[in-house]
Amino acid sequence: MKKSLFFLLIPLLFRLSLFAGEGMWIPMLLQQLNEKEMQEMGMNITAEDIYSINHSSLKDAIVLFGRGCTAEIISDQGLLLTNHHCGYGAIQRHSSIEHDYLTDGFWAMNKEEELANPGLSVTLMVRMEEVTAKVLEDVNDSMTEAERSAKIKENSDKLIEEFEKDSDYQAVIKPFFKGNAYYMIITETFKDIRLVGAPPSDIGKFGGDTDNWMWPRHTGDFSVFRIYTDKSGKPAEYSKENIPYQPKYHLPISIKGVDEGDFTFVFGYPARTNEYLPSCAVKMITESGNPHKIKLRQTRLDIFNEHTVNNPGVRIQYASKDARVANYWKKMIGESAGIQRMRGIEKKEAYENEFLAWAVSSPELEEKYGGLLPAFQSAYSQLEPLSLAFDYLREAGLGIELVNFARYFSHLTELSQANGLNEEAISEEITKLKNKTDGFFKDYYSPIDKEVMVALLKLYDENLAPEYKPAFFNTIHNKYKNDYASYTQYVFGKSMFDNEQSLNEYLNAYQPKHYKKLEKDPAFQMASDLKNLYVYRIQPGMNGINRKLDSLQRIYMKAQMEMAPDKRFYPDANFTLRVTYGMIDGYNPKDAVYYKPYTTLKGIMEKEDPAIYDYVVEDKLKELYQNKDYGDYADEDGSIHVCFVASNHTTGGNSGSPVLNSDGELVGVNFDRCWEGTMSDLMYDPQVCRNISLDIRYFLFIVDKFAGAGYLVDEMDIVN
Ligand code: ARG
Ligand code: ASP
Repeated sequence: MKKSLFFLLIPLLFRLSLFAGEGMWIPMLLQQLNEKEMQEMGMNITAEDIYSINHSSLKDAIVLFGRGCTAEIISDQGLLLTNHHCGYGAIQRHSSIEHDYLTDGFWAMNKEEELANPGLSVTLMVRMEEVTAKVLEDVNDSMTEAERSAKIKENSDKLIEEFEKDSDYQAVIKPFFKGNAYYMIITETFKDIRLVGAPPSDIGKFGGDTDNWMWPRHTGDFSVFRIYTDKSGKPAEYSKENIPYQPKYHLPISIKGVDEGDFTFVFGYPARTNEYLPSCAVKMITESGNPHKIKLRQTRLDIFNEHTVNNPGVRIQYASKDARVANYWKKMIGESAGIQRMRGIEKKEAYENEFLAWAVSSPELEEKYGGLLPAFQSAYSQLEPLSLAFDYLREAGLGIELVNFARYFSHLTELSQANGLNEEAISEEITKLKNKTDGFFKDYYSPIDKEVMVALLKLYDENLAPEYKPAFFNTIHNKYKNDYASYTQYVFGKSMFDNEQSLNEYLNAYQPKHYKKLEKDPAFQMASDLKNLYVYRIQPGMNGINRKLDSLQRIYMKAQMEMAPDKRFYPDANFTLRVTYGMIDGYNPKDAVYYKPYTTLKGIMEKEDPAIYDYVVEDKLKELYQNKDYGDYADEDGSIHVCFVASNHTTGGNSGSPVLNSDGELVGVNFDRCWEGTMSDLMYDPQVCRNISLDIRYFLFIVDKFAGAGYLVDEMDIVN
């Protein structure tokens, strides 16, 4: 009896200890820190297969896509796979009412039809090197934080210059572990990236913002691009003569499928996490910052919705903006709720008590670390009002599109008033502003912005201390007696920024002395007031405190590592390439509810609702479902799997990242996290933190069966 109970417990213990899932690991340290554990969890390949500087490895197939996503190379002709929401901007830019690729999807049926995307680039990491000692040379503890930063910058610039002078590659140096370690990242950036295909939004964005951050999920969140290079295989600006990139490595794609309990890892570019904050910081973020920002975004979203719901033209214009505002609105709600549910602040406090006990356990420790926690307390209490003022500036002040647009013209006024006018710089600036103006008006609908302005001004006024309000509130209070609507009417009536024609006329006929007209423009004045508020009030205060916090955090990180010398620490995400691993795993979101780890096509049919924009299902997809026309892409169970969840620790930036199986084959594309686990940027809870991925077989099924672009599948290496 005893014996059998013991054996029953083994898998459970095994599971808890082995499959924690937390951690975003540095590729070049995998062998040292993670390989053994990854192999115990089921991995059949080696750390060297993932990251190698001696031969091609998985890392040669992973790129940073655009400014904030990951993508992977899936053919020997530079074919690139990422999320639909990562390619969204590009797809939208090629869309119009006549060619609505957002709604209808887009498929280049041959390479000639692929679409160029000026401004879009992807970056490959060639290798990384630890450079801590060189970066910290001549840095010492008696330096002020400013002196320290200056020295670090000087050392880093020197190293980068030395490297770049004999190389075609670029280098950056980034701090890890809060500035306790530094790595040089060597990169190659490709600039001719063409759109190959995207499903219609009712597949690529199925469930829309309603399902965003949620499980169970049925989104076909992918889009396909291709990297082009010059004839010699080197990165180059777009040219018709360019050829498809021949990568060092591309990912094989497995159609074997995944099962609960299977090992997976995610290889990509997580942007930012803050796992080592003290409890007071987590409290500030989740109980003060988030609630204010949520309210401000909610206000904008409601107004967007009112205007777009029955207006398809405006809906296209606002699609990208709406998705952007809604995304972090919902994330913040989930994050605050998640910290509360896991009692995150209490957990951090308990940890801090332990830390404190250790930190006063000897006079030497006490001298170095005894004052850390109270110092954090005092710094964060000074930071809080400034941070709120900054949030309002960005979310309320610059949430008014007109004002946000007007601020781009401030450089022109500076150039126009400089001693010794630089005509060339002015004319370059005018060209830039004309482009900006085209882009702005393509997606601008002033009835929305007017309503947003009235609502945001009111919230701004009601929620912030007077010393942190921009100067235009004086006018609103004194001249307009707090009538936000008539102030808004005045701004829109008088400003040239909501009139494309007058703005273009102004730019076309621009002479330096015309800057005065800008300075008299009320939208430009609002932008200037916000800038002054930032430059003279918010920034000076924040800078000082942030310097202090940088130093405290660096010391706290070092102290925590010293307190637990046997513990493996991972550095916070900083937009460098990382590996995170876990397993396919369902979860309990709440009492009595268990979520399975995968969804199927049947679920799409269940969610279908032609009356709701987010849940429209294409006829073609229904037909394929009814006829079970699944090709080789069905699971053993006979259904098409759409998405799955796993316990890989991911964050923003990991979107588009490959999910790989124990043989290093592509089985999914990461695109989201489940709502209950969105606090993982601050604290990871293995019970509920799950990343959401597209099952690679759904991608293949849509490309081949739905879009009829099977020629793309022929390009890929499919493994049975
Ligand atoms: N939540 C995902 C991420 O943070 C997907 C966002 C795009 N989708 C959307 N419905 N807004 O990027
Ligand atoms: N959806 C996110 C992204 O775009 C991923 C996440 O936050 O989990 O990177």
